[in-house]
Amino acid sequence: MQEKLRVAVVVASTREGRVGGGVGRWFVERAGVRTGLDLDVVDLADFAIPACYPARPTPAMTGFARRIAAAEAYVVVTPEYNRSFPASLKQAIDCAYDEWRAKPVGFVSYGYRAAGRYAVEQLRGVFTELHTATLRDAVCLDLLEGRVADGGFRPDPERYAHAVTTLLDELVWWGLALRDGRRARPYCA
Ligand SMILES: Cc1cc2nc3c(=O)[nH]c(=O)nc-3n(C[C@H](O)[C@H](O)[C@H](O)COP(=O)(O)O)c2cc1C
Repeated sequence: MQEKLRVAVVVASTREGRVGGGVGRWFVERAGVRTGLDLDVVDLADFAIPACYPARPTPAMTGFARRIAAAEAYVVVTPEYNRSFPASLKQAIDCAYDEWRAKPVGFVSYGYRAAGRYAVEQLRGVFTELHTATLRDAVCLDLLEGRVADGGFRPDPERYAHAVTTLLDELVWWGLALRDGRRARPYCA
């Protein structure tokens, strides 16, 4: 039987009163019904990664890098702040380097109107530098239609079903292909 694909779902927002926790749970519920995935929720709110990098990595920084190393594929759940992604996410991404390498990264974004698409496009450049394969199709959620008062996210159940399936199909294809590739030969860089 095929080994399950180990997927880290990175929840990016650490903002007090964030919607991100609810969006992350919404996505994990949907991904969880699919067989063959071993999901690890890596919530940046649990890590306290420092805003100014110290000379030596803190336990939070090394702990984050270990979770990234353990995964074979990633889904980044990000809001949009001023047409970009939050600083908390950049600080976390930069705690790891080789750990990201030759693995796929998909995106679940959220915001108003553009639904976080600007944040995703900026993240593609960052993840190119880290030698990842970013997925073409993202799940982009419009907060105007699914946000609820307790920080949850409950859109029309049918509305994003196709986008979630497409993202997971691409993630699994790349995740298994790159697992085989890494096992067959060392990555070139
Ligand atoms: C500093 C800041 C900047 C924002 N800029 C944008 C933006 O450019 N586009 C957008 O659609 N929403 C923007 N928003 C709205 C956020 O996407 C929305 O508040 C979302 O809930 C933030 O995610 P979080 O609650 O998980 O932190 C911004 C919010 C903040 C706090």
